[in-house]
Amino acid sequence: MEIHSTIAGLRAALMGAGRVSFVPTMGNLHEGHIALMRQAQPLGDCLVSSLFVNRLQFGPKEDFGTYPRTFEADCAKMATVGVAHLFAPDEREMYPAPQAYFVQPEPVQADILEGEFRPGFFRGVATVVMKLFAIVQPQVAVFGKKDYQQLMIIRNMVREFALPIEIVAGETVRAEDGLALSSRNGYLSAAERAEAPRLYRALEAVRQGVRGGERDLARLEQWAMAELRASGWIPQYVAVRKQLDLQLPAAHDSGLVVLGAALLGSTRLIDNLEV
Ligand code: PAF
Repeated sequence: MEIHSTIAGLRAALMGAGRVSFVPTMGNLHEGHIALMRQAQPLGDCLVSSLFVNRLQFGPKEDFGTYPRTFEADCAKMATVGVAHLFAPDEREMYPAPQAYFVQPEPVQADILEGEFRPGFFRGVATVVMKLFAIVQPQVAVFGKKDYQQLMIIRNMVREFALPIEIVAGETVRAEDGLALSSRNGYLSAAERAEAPRLYRALEAVRQGVRGGERDLARLEQWAMAELRASGWIPQYVAVRKQLDLQLPAAHDSGLVVLGAALLGSTRLIDNLEV
């Protein structure tokens, strides 16, 4: 695996590389990332990944400073799943001057759910992904369903800007007890880690309720929030939405997804399940 810290170096290396498949990351890789890379590898002639902790998508009180940076371990993992080129720029390479142009998704997409609790998050994500796409110029890119709203926003951005990139979704990878793998799971204490699958179980109960024909979605959502609260969580949202655009479903809509976010101690966990 070749490691490139500059845009010029990566571009030179990719000349004549053929069809490029791409998995962007912020590092601290777990099996969820590795699964995305395994999925992306056969989709092109050359698998590229990136590792960049993107300051633009962190709020002022969020964990940019403490976000785990595990470069050596990440490189070792990427090399085992066929990543041919890793783009790992520093901040001066990505943002040589403070970024003055942004990709700002419409509030109807970016200010709901995650965006309500993380203002500016999707502007930061869309901007860096647009920039990474311009640098890497992949033909196909793989994003995980674990970040369901992010996946929707990237799909919409690619469509609206007519970028010649196919966006492929990767399934969420879970621990045996159901907890969705996430870089932030490492923040959990042993007791919190034992408690953490409750979010998945609450969403699963809502999913079963919807599948069982319950149409009072607000009742299901409130039940799940109360379940979490009763076990010491601070739930931010549990919401049943349309998979396509994450808007409120009408009475007989199908293709739904249950999404949730909650604080367990000081760790914020998110998860979702398609119905
Ligand atoms: O999902 C992530 O890890 C990040 O949001 C991404 C897509 C790499 C952009 O920084």
